[in-house]
Amino acid sequence: MNRENPKKFRVKSFGCQMNVYDGDRMTEMLTDQGMTSADDGEEADLVVLNTCHIREKAAEKVYSDIGRLRGKDGKSPLIAVAGCVAQAEGKEISRRAPSVDIVVGPQAYHRLPELLEKAKSGKKALDTDMPIQSKFDVLPTRKKQARPNAFLTVQEGCDKFCTYCVVPYTRGAEISRPWSDLIDEAKALVDGGSKEITLLGQNVNAWSSEDDKGRRQGLDGLIRALDKVDGLGRIRYTTSHPNDMTQELIDAHGDVPKLMPYLHLPVQSGSDPILKAMNRSHTTESYLDILRRIREVRPDIAISGDFIVGFPGETDEDFEKTLAVVSEANYAQAYSFKYSPRPGTPAATMESQIAPEIMNERLQRLQALLNEQQHEFNRQAVGRTTTILLERNGK
Ligand code: 5AD
Ligand code: SF4
Repeated sequence: MNRENPKKFRVKSFGCQMNVYDGDRMTEMLTDQGMTSADDGEEADLVVLNTCHIREKAAEKVYSDIGRLRGKDGKSPLIAVAGCVAQAEGKEISRRAPSVDIVVGPQAYHRLPELLEKAKSGKKALDTDMPIQSKFDVLPTRKKQARPNAFLTVQEGCDKFCTYCVVPYTRGAEISRPWSDLIDEAKALVDGGSKEITLLGQNVNAWSSEDDKGRRQGLDGLIRALDKVDGLGRIRYTTSHPNDMTQELIDAHGDVPKLMPYLHLPVQSGSDPILKAMNRSHTTESYLDILRRIREVRPDIAISGDFIVGFPGETDEDFEKTLAVVSEANYAQAYSFKYSPRPGTPAATMESQIAPEIMNERLQRLQALLNEQQHEFNRQAVGRTTTILLERNGK
């Protein structure tokens, strides 16, 4: 392992697709610095762990991963911890894991080359600033992607402050990237061979910017503009918040040919008092109404969701209401989690935290229902002819 003059690097991303995007950008930046990506099984001189802080399990994973990086000779490569754990835990990481050389937050990773210089000379390098100048202004232009399905971050951060969630603290306030930057980046991805682009944002449907003619545009406008990009086959977006699901965006699902019939729209809980305690600012009824309207324009749409069971104060009755909403919503797939108290969030100190056994039981019942719905969705695809995108080589 060459710590003084690293040549080979590996970026490992955990958690959400936004991290995959950031991982791709770090890869491009390190490649620009003359380094090359280590192949599978090959030893790397620099390892970037691009971490996730959303639940406790995800956050703890980074420490076990760091332990595993030590080579046979007892030496470690240069280790950089990036992503949301870096932002949330900062200096604490070097204390708990002295072998970490670089700690860099999700809004500062464009400074990775400078941090690397410092680390090469044996010093610890930390940068968890949220600088005024956006990383997007300084990152190198997009290169050919390893996958035909590319990610494009259009919006970052969150102002919603759901009471269980760390994102507003780790990713900062909501920002929308400018129209022309996004059109240019999308074209660069398509020129590099990408067939599908997934527009990303913690609240992607809150994206808004002026277009090149000075008109205010929402995500539907951006999608319509991307629909006209030659060579692009498919458009997706994730993750959306029910409150920003405008009628214009719903309508786009009815008449934009390249927009895939898929919507990830988390509801989190089917109980209005719990939604209120979560500070979700929508109701189960307003959520179900969105699904009805979107199915009107696109009956075959695959609906996906996120759920949290065992939020503080959740009663059996509240949980039954979640099952009732799932039955009505009819998901093609969904992600469901046990509530995990996160340091610094309001829900972590709420009374009536739910016992782990109750959470386990609720999660099992919810997942059984969601699995049934997913199988039913898949069964309906049997016999249908459709175009598919091959994303990678199978085993
Ligand atoms: N505990 C459990 N699940 C959480 N999520 C966010 N924060 C927490 C938490 N503290 C889930 C939500 C969100 C998804 C990305 O992760 O369902 O939509
Ligand atoms: Fe977290 Fe809520 Fe923002 Fe989603 S909308 S990132 S769950 S605070």
